[in-house]
Amino acid sequence: MAEYQTQEHDVVVIGAGGAGLRAAIEAASAGCSVALVCKSLLGKAHTVMAEGGVAASLANVDERDNWRVHFSDTMRGGQYLNNWRMAELHAQQAPDRVRELEKWGALFDRTKEGAILQRNFGGHRYPRLAHVGDRTGLEMIRTLQDHGIHQGIDVFMEFTVVTLLKSGDRVVGALAYDRERGYFHAFRAKSVIMATGGIGKAFRITSNSWEYTGDGHALAYDAGADLVDMEFVQFHPTGMVWPPSVRGILVTEGVRGDGGVLRNSEGRRFMFDDIPDLYKEQTADSPEEGWRYVQGDKAARRPPELLTRDHVARCIMREVKEGRGSPHGGVFLDIAWIKEKISNAEEHIKKKLPSMYHQFKKLADIDITKTPMEVGPTTHYVMGGVRVDADTQMSTVPGLFAAGECAGGLHGANRLGGNSLSDLLVFGKLAGEHAAAFAKEHGAADAPAEQIDAAIAAALVPFEVSDANAEAAYAVQHDLQDTMQDLVGIVRVENELKEAIDRLAKLRDRARKVRVDGHRQYNPGWHGALDLENMLVISEAVARSALDRTESRGAHTRNDFPGKNEACGKVNTVVRKGADGAMEVQQHPIAEMRPDLQAIIEEMK
Ligand code: FUM
Repeated sequence: MAEYQTQEHDVVVIGAGGAGLRAAIEAASAGCSVALVCKSLLGKAHTVMAEGGVAASLANVDERDNWRVHFSDTMRGGQYLNNWRMAELHAQQAPDRVRELEKWGALFDRTKEGAILQRNFGGHRYPRLAHVGDRTGLEMIRTLQDHGIHQGIDVFMEFTVVTLLKSGDRVVGALAYDRERGYFHAFRAKSVIMATGGIGKAFRITSNSWEYTGDGHALAYDAGADLVDMEFVQFHPTGMVWPPSVRGILVTEGVRGDGGVLRNSEGRRFMFDDIPDLYKEQTADSPEEGWRYVQGDKAARRPPELLTRDHVARCIMREVKEGRGSPHGGVFLDIAWIKEKISNAEEHIKKKLPSMYHQFKKLADIDITKTPMEVGPTTHYVMGGVRVDADTQMSTVPGLFAAGECAGGLHGANRLGGNSLSDLLVFGKLAGEHAAAFAKEHGAADAPAEQIDAAIAAALVPFEVSDANAEAAYAVQHDLQDTMQDLVGIVRVENELKEAIDRLAKLRDRARKVRVDGHRQYNPGWHGALDLENMLVISEAVARSALDRTESRGAHTRNDFPGKNEACGKVNTVVRKGADGAMEVQQHPIAEMRPDLQAIIEEMK
């Protein structure tokens, strides 16, 4: 029998970014005992990488905004593959969730009248992003942490979950180990909420940090849950490209929201060259008009730099590929130019974009109030995730809930900036509420002891590999990142996707033979070996889903299928583990939209 400690709670939340914290707060306030289990330190989460703001139709800057416009923008941005019920709930509830956060102590920037200030972001028709300079995610995490600390939540920091525990069909807990000492812990629970964030570490160039290895997606898949729309990976158009050590670090869309423009090596604003029909009516056709919009002229139209992220990323790639890129393989993002328009430009930039100012000064020795930045696309977010019921956030496996980036559905083929933060607030709350209700309705159940023993034995396998020439996990991870970046990146094509799937199978063989030296106490080699399994699952899910979608839509671009396909526009891609353990890919028809919501979309067109 393996050794482990047992923890008992009504609800276990895995992941302590914005979604996990918000879910834990809700479940605790419903009277449940809650464990919050996180791989890293509390508060260190990708939520902080949503810097420019949280999207909610507060209508503080433009009174024409309301939830119906936000709903319609989100659906258009997602190219209508979104779960429309989630998009409806999200748009309706986001304003209350932001006001609630303010009540809990979040200090948003203010309008002259003292209301929460909102800025422009790509794909949002009106200035909609409530923000705290360019540190919005950080302020949100701080607020949720401060509030959560008083709810009696038990926090388990630096714990990695290796498997979900099941009793029959139902999820009844999780098995984890603490990274510091390497001891195993079985968390018994009546319901489990997955809020582990994204999969960015499966790619070489990413804004994500080391934690984002797709753990929640892979654990849920292994427990029998469906994953939906995994082909849609968002490449944020603006990450740092230089120096090499900081490649991929996010440059907030807030720079463009506040007037930053994109130029190629010829000094031309190339975003004017290609404006999609869908957005022609809303997009400025002259620089002057775009600037007037940024300054708050309600009759003017948005600059093309504020088109959706998928489109901006593709335009940047085109400039680089056609030889009009910046010296280090990106393009130029210029906010310094606004000194031609406003007298206090330097002060203004430092006030609105303090983190960007310091980031470039410290990491690249560039003063962004004077010099353009070099930027290029970086893997930022996965739209796909655990398939959940829109109203309850329960997955297809009873007792297992998901929220935030790890859940799929809301964003369809492409997420609008700032919708991630409102997503995690709205659906974190709903997941917490419904996981608590599930816990109250269902008694505790135990996973068989053999299940725990087998999971512990599997987790310790890398210590038993005796081959002296065996590889370390890092080498395999490195090759996996190269495979995904080069063959399953921004632009995809059938033969490369097939090659990626073959290579992933070979990487799986190598991963099985990875060796770990030393002991279980804080052993990065061991952590990496266990992460690998999750990265392989989600990478295969992305590659197989991408192969299955024979069209280009949103963040999924196929060179061999350059246009949209009507039939493909009516289905979501669903991945699940087959009875034989192999990955199955299916196409699920999208439920017909309710007529009242259809009418909103028609009206907004
Ligand atoms: O550009 C940004 O500030 C990122 C925001 C987001 O991903 O929502």
